[in-house]
Amino acid sequence: MPATRNAEYGAHETLTPYSDVTTYNNFYEFGTSKSDPARYAGSLHTRPWTVVVDGEVHKPRRFDIDALLKLAPMQERIYRHRCVEGWSMVIPWIGYPLSALLRAVEPTGNAKFITYQTLLDPAEMPGQNDPVLAWPYLEGLRMDEAMHPLTLLAFGLYGEVLPNQDGAPLRMVIPWKYGFKGGKSIVRISLVERQPVTSWMRAVPNWYGFYSNVNPDVSPQNWSQATERRIGDGRFGGLFAPRLKTRLFNGYAKQVADLYRGMDLRRDF
Ligand code: MTE
Repeated sequence: MPATRNAEYGAHETLTPYSDVTTYNNFYEFGTSKSDPARYAGSLHTRPWTVVVDGEVHKPRRFDIDALLKLAPMQERIYRHRCVEGWSMVIPWIGYPLSALLRAVEPTGNAKFITYQTLLDPAEMPGQNDPVLAWPYLEGLRMDEAMHPLTLLAFGLYGEVLPNQDGAPLRMVIPWKYGFKGGKSIVRISLVERQPVTSWMRAVPNWYGFYSNVNPDVSPQNWSQATERRIGDGRFGGLFAPRLKTRLFNGYAKQVADLYRGMDLRRDF
């Protein structure tokens, strides 16, 4: 997948090997173990694929995936990726800012948040027969987070089209938030007035808040968010890699801290 490298968004850290990025995944639609998505996501058909963008917009649209691919120039950006479970990766994504798509549908003055949802199709996504989460997988952002230049609509990684297990044909990447905000295989983006209740908030409300910003000082779960294990570092897939200190906003504080000025991040986790 051709793309122009955007050096402004280079993490300047060792990339996580392609083999780890594509075999150690969370994608509960294909099972809850890390190896399930690589093993089973082959059942997902990513053509034809349409993405509806609707709600508080002047120009609601239904995009064919091949039209979406041409909406804005593709960039390669290297981002740190931090899962709430305590592991992290460094991934060269390909995509363009979500803001390009949102501008194309002309948000109304009532658009305060967005929601995005994954395909609902238990035949192709057998994990949806298991009620671990309320399907379809639904996540959301505040409008200013969605419009932030770091927020990427990703179609590829490592120079290639996204493998199914990584969220083909398109997914969200919000590098200052825990990985679960990065909804995969998206079919609908809706602009809304009220803060949505996401799949994880519904499932475990005291662990997963709406904001989900990476924050080493706040651990609503019964485990600490202070450190992380870099997958692929050292031997045995990083199992024995030294733990790294997790940084506020996953190291993107300079770019995003202003979005949260005046908020109590302990309460709004
Ligand atoms: N999107 C969907 N549709 N279903 C999921 O189970 N898991 C989330 C997120 N997006 C998930 C999802 C979680 S918990 C993480 S950490 C990231 O995907 C993992 O992305 P990766 O497998 O590409 O590293």
